[in-house]
Amino acid sequence: MNGELVLIFDFGSQFGQLIARRVRELNVFCQVVRHDIPAERVKALNPKGLIFSGGPASVYEPGAPKCDPKVFDLGVPVLGICYGMQLAAQALGGTVGGGAHTREYGRATLTVTDPDALFRGYPKESTVWMSHGDQVQTVSADWVPLATTDACPIAAVRHRTRPVFGLQFHPEVSHTTHGRLILQNFLRDVCGCQGLWKMQTFVEKTVAEVREKVGNKRVICGLSGGVDSSVCAALLVKAIGPQVTCIYVDNGLMREGETELVRHTFRDWFKADLHAVDARDRFLSALQGVTDPQEKRRIIGRVFIDVFKHEALSIPDAHFLAQGTLYPDVIESGGSADGPAATIKLHHNVGGLPAELGFELIEPLRDLFKDEVRKLGLELGLPEEVVWRHPFPGPGLAVRCLGEVTPEKLSTLRKADTIFIEELHKSGWYRKTAQAFAVLLPVQSVGVMGDGRTYENTVALRCVQTDDFMTADWSQLPYDLLAKVATTIINRVPGVNRVVYDISSKPPATIEWE
Ligand code: XMP
Repeated sequence: MNGELVLIFDFGSQFGQLIARRVRELNVFCQVVRHDIPAERVKALNPKGLIFSGGPASVYEPGAPKCDPKVFDLGVPVLGICYGMQLAAQALGGTVGGGAHTREYGRATLTVTDPDALFRGYPKESTVWMSHGDQVQTVSADWVPLATTDACPIAAVRHRTRPVFGLQFHPEVSHTTHGRLILQNFLRDVCGCQGLWKMQTFVEKTVAEVREKVGNKRVICGLSGGVDSSVCAALLVKAIGPQVTCIYVDNGLMREGETELVRHTFRDWFKADLHAVDARDRFLSALQGVTDPQEKRRIIGRVFIDVFKHEALSIPDAHFLAQGTLYPDVIESGGSADGPAATIKLHHNVGGLPAELGFELIEPLRDLFKDEVRKLGLELGLPEEVVWRHPFPGPGLAVRCLGEVTPEKLSTLRKADTIFIEELHKSGWYRKTAQAFAVLLPVQSVGVMGDGRTYENTVALRCVQTDDFMTADWSQLPYDLLAKVATTIINRVPGVNRVVYDISSKPPATIEWE
C-alpha cells in the first residue's frame, strides 16, 4: 500500500468513520484504531500521520480515554479534532475547561489568524461545525493559536516544535465548508503523503496478504448473492484461484433469477469452484405452518448452519473460512491489538456461522466501507447488477411473505417484486434508493376485474432512503412510476388485486415488515 498509512485514534466520536472516509477520499489509506494503542505498536505500523477523533468525554474527568503519552514522542504528525485537540493540549501544556460559556453546537464563523500550513489557501472567514462542551482555555508558549470563533478564542492551534495540530471544530463534516482543504493540507504538507492510494493498490496488497496467509491451504467462502460476499469471493478467486471453494445455499427464499445470477457470475465468468446447494425443500418444509417472524428467522438460521456445515465438511482439506465482513459490521469491543476488535453484529445476522465449525477466519474487507466495497467489486470485474444490488435479508422472502410461507405465495411475491425492481431500474430510481422490495400481505380484499368480483391479495411496496439502515425515510417515488408499477402488478400477477405504498419512516416502523 505504498507505505502511506494514517491511523485514526478512536475516542468514541460519532464521526470516526467519517474521518476515515474523508482521508481515503484524499487517496490516503487509513485505519481506525483504539485510542490506547501502545506507542510501540504505532511505531511498528509506521504511519505517516495520526488523527485523534472527537469524543463525548471530558479530558479532565477521571477515566477519560487517553492515548499512550509516548505517542507524542514518535515524531509522527498528529491532528487532534475536538476532544483530540483538548487531549493533545492537555498533554503538551494547555488547560481545558467546560461550562455554559464554552459550549458551542452547530455552525460558527471561523476567523483564521495565522494562515499556517494547515490553513494554506483557506479563506480568512468561513463556516465551521462545532459540537463541544469543553474547549482549550489556555495554551503555553509552546503553542501558536491559529484561528478563533466568537465562543472559542482558541479554535485551532499548532505546537511550535512538534508536528502537533488541533482543531476545535470538525473538518470532516460537510457543514464545515472548507474542511477537506484542512485535511488535505495536513495529509500532504504536514505528513508528506503523496495520496497515491487507489483501489488497485488495495487489491494488490490484499491479494498478497491473502496468498501469504493461506499458503497452499483451501479456503471456503460463503456466497449469499449480496454485494459483500460476492466481492469477498471475487477477491479470493483473484488471489488464490482454484484454492477457494464458494458455497451458495439456495434456500428457496431468494428473488427471481438470483441463483442463476450467482451461478453465471461465479461459475461461468470467474471460473470459480462453486458448490450451489439446492436446499429449497429443506427450508420450505421446516417453515411449514410457521407464522411468527422470529421463529421463521430461527428456523432459517438453524437450517442454514446445518446445510452449510454439511457442505463445508464435505470439502476434505478446507482450512479457512472467508467472510465479507465490512468495517461498519465491526463494533469496537476492546481486546485486539489494534482494535476495533471483530464483533459481528448479532442483530439480524442469520448467515452467521458458529465458531465450532473450526475454520480459521479471513476477512479481507474488514477495513472498508460499503461504497468502497462497491468500487472494489467493479475493479475486480463483477457485473454492475451484482455490485449495485440493494441489501437483502438473510431470511430472504420469508420475512416479506407475511404469515405462513408457501411455494405459491413465494411465487406471487417474486413476480410482483420483479416488476417493481424492473420499473425502478428503467426509471433510474434503483440507484437513487437504498432498498426497495415488495411484500405480500396476508390480507384479502374485494375488487372487480372485468365483470367479475374478486377477493384477492394485497401487495405492499416498500422503498426507502437511508445511509445506515438504522433510520430510514420512505422514498418519494413519482406518482406516475407508482401508478405504472401498481397497474403492471395487478394486470400481470394472478391473485393480486390491490397494491399499496408504504409511507412509514423508521423509526417507528422498520424497513422490513417482519
Ligand atoms: P429493519 O427491518 O430492521 O432492517 O429496519 C434493517 C436492515 O436489515 C435488514 N434485515 C435483515 N438482514 N437478516 C439480515 O441479514 C435479517 O433477519 C434481517 N432483517 C432485516 C433489512 O433488509 C434492512 O436492510
